[in-house]
Order: sequence, then C-alpha cells, then structure tokens
Amino acid sequence: MDKMARAAVLIAPGKIEMKEFPIPAIGDDDILVKVEACGICGTDGHEYKRDPFGLCPVVLGHEGTGEIVAMGKNISSDTAGKPLAVGDKVVTCIIPCGKCDACKNTPARTNLCENCGVYGLFPDDDIHLNGYFAEYILIRPGSTVFNVSSMTLDQRILVEPAAVAVHAVERAKTTGLLKFNTVVLVQGCGPIGLMVMSVLRTLGIENIIAVDGNDTRLELAREMGASHTFNFSAFESFDSMLEGIKSHNNGFAADFVFQCTGVGKAGASAWKLVKRGGGLCEVGFFMDGGESVINHHFDLCNKEVTAVGSWVYTPQDYPTTFYFLKRATSIGLPMEKLITHRFKLDEISEALETNVAMKGIKVAIVN
Ligand SMILES: NC(=O)c1ccc[n+]([C@@H]2O[C@H](COP(=O)([O-])OP(=O)(O)OC[C@H]3O[C@@H](n4cnc5c(N)ncnc54)[C@H](O)[C@@H]3O)[C@@H](O)[C@H]2O)c1
Ligand SMILES: [Zn+2]
Ligand SMILES: [Zn+2]
Repeated sequence: MDKMARAAVLIAPGKIEMKEFPIPAIGDDDILVKVEACGICGTDGHEYKRDPFGLCPVVLGHEGTGEIVAMGKNISSDTAGKPLAVGDKVVTCIIPCGKCDACKNTPARTNLCENCGVYGLFPDDDIHLNGYFAEYILIRPGSTVFNVSSMTLDQRILVEPAAVAVHAVERAKTTGLLKFNTVVLVQGCGPIGLMVMSVLRTLGIENIIAVDGNDTRLELAREMGASHTFNFSAFESFDSMLEGIKSHNNGFAADFVFQCTGVGKAGASAWKLVKRGGGLCEVGFFMDGGESVINHHFDLCNKEVTAVGSWVYTPQDYPTTFYFLKRATSIGLPMEKLITHRFKLDEISEALETNVAMKGIKVAIVN
C-alpha cells in the first residue's frame, strides 16, 4: 500500500499547492479510502476565491467517493447498517455533533445541527487527509459513511447534489401540495435546479416549468424532465413572462415553485410565480444572497402560500438519494450529462476556475 498521499491544499485564496502527507496508521474505528472522484460545488468555488469560512489551509472536496483500502477492526457496517468491507465503494455524509438542540430534540432534522461537520470543509489538522481533493481520505470515528458499491462512478459523484434535491422535495412534500398533476416551476437550472426536476420526474410529476437565463441550461432542463422552458431574458418584463407561464396552468401561476438560483432578486420574484393557495420551497441560498423585498400582502398573506426552507440533507436522506439516482437512470433521465467537465487532481486549479466561471454544469475531479 502507498505510504504517502498527495493532496491539493488551498493555502490562500486562489492559491493551491499539491502537498504530500504520510498515510497514518489506521485506528480501530478509522476507514482509509482511496479517492476515485469528487465533484466541485459552488461552495468550493467561493472557498477557492475568497475563503469566506476562514479555513485556509484546507483540503477541499466534499462531493467525493472512493474505495475502502483499509479499515479498523471495529467497523463492519455502514451508517444505514449495510455490511462494509475493504474493496467497497463509499460516500460520506454530514456529521451531526449529537449534542446541540437540533441533534438532541429533533433527531430527524440533524441537518440543522449547530456544529455540523463535513469532510472537505474541515479545518486542517495533523493528519491533513480530510477532504476529497486528494489521493486518500481518512474517515475518522463518529463519521457517517455509506456503502454505494452497487452504483456507477458517475452516480456516486452526483450523490451530494442529488441529496440536496431529494431533501428539498421531501420538504416540499410536507406541504401536501405535490401531486401527480401539480404544475411545478423550477427557478434556476444549475445543478441543483436540474436535480430537483429529475427528482420530481422520478415521482411521476410531469408538468415542470423551468426558468433560467441560459439557453444551454434550459435545453438540458428539457432532457432532465422539464415540459416547458422560459428564458427570462427573452421577455420584455417579468409580467410578460408570467403571462406565458400562466398559459400552461389554465391561466394561473404555478401550483408550486422551487427557488434554486442564489440570486436575491430571483428569490423575491419566486413568490410572484406561485398561484393563490400554492407552495414554495426555498433551496437556493446556501450562501448569503443579500436581502430582498417581497410584498407581504400580495405575495404571501393574500395568496396563503405554504412555504418551506430546505437546508442540505440528513444522513437519512442518503439511502433515498441512492434509490433516486438509480431510478432516474432507469426511467431514462440522462444523469451522466450533468457531469460536463472532468479534470485530474493535478489540474485542480483549472477545474476550480472552470466552476467559478460557471462553465458547464458539474465539474469533477477524477483521479
Ligand atoms: N439549500 C441548500 O442546502 C443548498 C445546497 C447546495 C446549494 N444551494 C444553493 O442553491 C443554489 C443553486 O445551486 P447551483 O449549483 O445550481 O447554482 P448555479 O449558480 O449553477 O445555478 C443557478 C442558476 O440560476 C439561474 N438564475 C439566475 N437568476 C435567475 C432568475 N432571475 N430566474 C431564473 N434563473 C436564474 C442562473 O442562470 C443559473 O443557471 C446556489 O445559490 C447554492 O448556494 C443550496
Ligand atoms: Zn456541495
Ligand atoms: Zn448537533
């Protein structure tokens, strides 16, 4: 087995150095994973450019997957109770602290943990191998890890963003408003919006209106299951676009809206795309997109909108996500098209620049 592992260390905003670290001895509760691939997330792009979380030096990469090459003697199963052995392919999920209010009092909502950890966004330590932009990652005691040996590499790369969408749709379902014939509008056709559409399709929802300003993304939206697409930049005004949208729902705005843009102005206009008695799921703001203004009378009170926020995912969402990804493939959704760029670990800076420039959809490092 290798004695050393190379890792891409972000030492300062915009500056990555490839470093070599010794692979430590494996403790009884550790899992050593040889990284196969890792998707790049918008959050990685923000960290790379500005280090908003103040993590430098840091090994980024949280959408990763790889193969178990060594395992402590205390480990025999994954977080869902499935057997785990050397040679299995795995992904990791969030690590709730188990001590805060959310962890103690709402155990089904550990995504709200105040001290949630995730590999790829941990401060550096003396082992260093705690992000997926590396050759190896050491999974420590208390982590959440899932056996995904039955999935293809592309499916495994997509698990994390897919889980965001699965969780959002689960939150939306709590409103009781998602039915087979619900007219759903997805605002924003980046990886998250496209994933939300494909989750809806696997549930049998087929009236999906996609809105974005980018025609290439809207084309992909059609392939991922959108029945109608609207390029907002092709309309004179928001109201003229809304009229067009209404023509697909008997003269009404959408029954349900998923907001997936990260743009404050879009966040405000999302409310105007919902019909009276409709629902809204806000997924699009993992980062602060600033404040925006809604008219509480017209947009919320008078329409009795049922709105839910959605924040990442819980470990319990992961098995649902694995099922979703297999099902999406089996009903013919071209999930592999979401991975538009592949780079080697040595090309990490170029890969991050590609993400920051918003080229393609999902950029991945494939070792
Ligand atoms: N809630 C969560 O837990 C969670 C998790 C991950 C990501 N996110 C957030 O979800 C958002 C989407 O992620 P992504 O990776 O798909 O991002 P992305 O930036 O690739 O996609 C956003 C899309 O929105 C489009 N857009 C911008 N303004 C618009 C408007 N007025 N109307 C319609 N479309 C518009 C853009 O053209 C782009 O295609 C991000 O802001 C991210 O922070 C949230
Ligand atoms: Zn991510
Ligand atoms: Zn907690």
